[in-house]
Amino acid sequence: MIPVEENEDDQLVTIIADGKSAGTFYVRLADKKPDYSVPFDLTPYKGKNLILDFKKISKGNAGAQQNDTTTTVWDDFTFIDTFDTTNKEHYRPLYHHTPEYGWMNDPNGMVYKDGKWHLYYQWNPYGSKWQNMTWGHSVSEDLIHWEQLPAAIEPDALGAIFSGSAAIDHTGSAGFGEDAIVAMYTSAGHSQMQSIAHSTDGGLTFEVYPGNPVITMKTEARDPKIFWNEETQEWNMVLAHALNHEILFFSSPDLKNWTRTDAFGKVGATGGVWECPDLFELEVEGTGEKKWVLIVNLNPGGPFGGSATQYFIGDFKDGKFTADVAADGSIPTKWMDFGKDHYATVTWSDAPDGRRVALGWMSNWEYADQVPTMQFRSANTLPRDLKLFQDADGELFLASVPSPEVMKLRGKAVVSAAKVAVGKAGKKFSLPRSNDGACEITADVKASGTGMAEFTLSNADGEKITISYDAATDELIFDRMHGTFTDISHNFPAVTKAPAFSSDGKVSLRIFVDRSSVEVFANDGKSVMTNLIFPEKPYTVLTVSGKGKAEVTNLKVYEINMK
Ligand code: FRU
Repeated sequence: MIPVEENEDDQLVTIIADGKSAGTFYVRLADKKPDYSVPFDLTPYKGKNLILDFKKISKGNAGAQQNDTTTTVWDDFTFIDTFDTTNKEHYRPLYHHTPEYGWMNDPNGMVYKDGKWHLYYQWNPYGSKWQNMTWGHSVSEDLIHWEQLPAAIEPDALGAIFSGSAAIDHTGSAGFGEDAIVAMYTSAGHSQMQSIAHSTDGGLTFEVYPGNPVITMKTEARDPKIFWNEETQEWNMVLAHALNHEILFFSSPDLKNWTRTDAFGKVGATGGVWECPDLFELEVEGTGEKKWVLIVNLNPGGPFGGSATQYFIGDFKDGKFTADVAADGSIPTKWMDFGKDHYATVTWSDAPDGRRVALGWMSNWEYADQVPTMQFRSANTLPRDLKLFQDADGELFLASVPSPEVMKLRGKAVVSAAKVAVGKAGKKFSLPRSNDGACEITADVKASGTGMAEFTLSNADGEKITISYDAATDELIFDRMHGTFTDISHNFPAVTKAPAFSSDGKVSLRIFVDRSSVEVFANDGKSVMTNLIFPEKPYTVLTVSGKGKAEVTNLKVYEINMK
């Protein structure tokens, strides 16, 4: 067990086995008072003489630093046989995916095979801040209950394993056998290169391709998303040309030899780097027409600061993407989720029944490593099935609907009110006592003129968040300005607003509250907001209030059933 102190700088650790270098990793080695310890697995070095050589690295002056006393806490290095991953955090979500320990960012390589939803993710096994990017691995049969599995792809001589994707190679085009899972990711070493690896044991272990990298470029390009194109019988891939604010398109017969076919970008939101793209075809609800959706994650430059997910709708033909234009000829910027904590969102490959299921990292690079957890850091959103819909003017948008599996979480209704007389003072309801108030709240709102309906979750200490519908602007508003948790970072307090897409001021709401997050879905996923919350004590009361012409019907609060 290696003691870690989060405020220390990273040290470079060289693993020396029988006198030879066997790799490196970084760790914020404790100096005074360890915050926690992380396991370093000795099993692979059995029978060998092992040395861990710690070296302080000073930023901006690499190499010039003396390797002086690296720590004063040598006694905190301990030997154990099993690592206790029992949860120690009161902010650990009840029903959202988290790593058992260590830092997590982007979900990647998501692929469905033989009844299992594989979720790989950007993981640091040696601490709860970003470093040592490895593909962690979880698997689920229902998108809700996740089993943690050993890391799937670990850093190698080409670099850390950044984000990417995976798909089933049904025809065995890559030469790894029919139905092998092939992963494509960014090797992040001195430069960013694209590499592949394959799995023939259903995604548990991956063999890295000895011919890596398969794509090199002079500039930062990352997060390849691959998919098999039925029409052209070849592989296609989208790659984020991060600093150029563009997405590059490639095709390949075998996942090893790639030809660049197009570049699309320098449009939409360009306030930060373009990362984690995705491209897929969806049917426009109720029309039979099909369109292509290009997802582009952006950081910073989101509508409320920091990270966010934008998308473009258009056509994809002969390796080229053409975006639909608005009446004035411009390409509109569209956001998938109007909260502050929805990023690196991509979709599963090979999902059954033609489904397109997305998952996002529920955080924001503005403060992701400052949120008040230590054993683990960051959770993922609820899984969402994507749909394309037309608004009243016939313009196309993406809806994110909580995946049908989420219904399994609905437990006993602890509040059930056919009609709530909303007024200024508001009507109070108790949130469930079980699971620190984790719940699903559903309600129908109807408001007109300057009418407003408000849903406030609060505790006895005055910490609160408010979700409201404003008929005048047809917007949903999420206010997380009040509570001690706003000290996390000056970027944390926020009011986020989403177009509600109501018809005649009617809005149907599903609000998912977990220990450190709230996801608001309105009108069957047409309007979505995902925001983190860190109340010191759980919210216990729901106050429903209103101003002007507003009514709330069918209010229910359900316990969460997480068996
Ligand atoms: C997005 C991202 C990716 C990169 C990964 C590294 O959050 O910056 O572009 O592959 O994180 O962990």
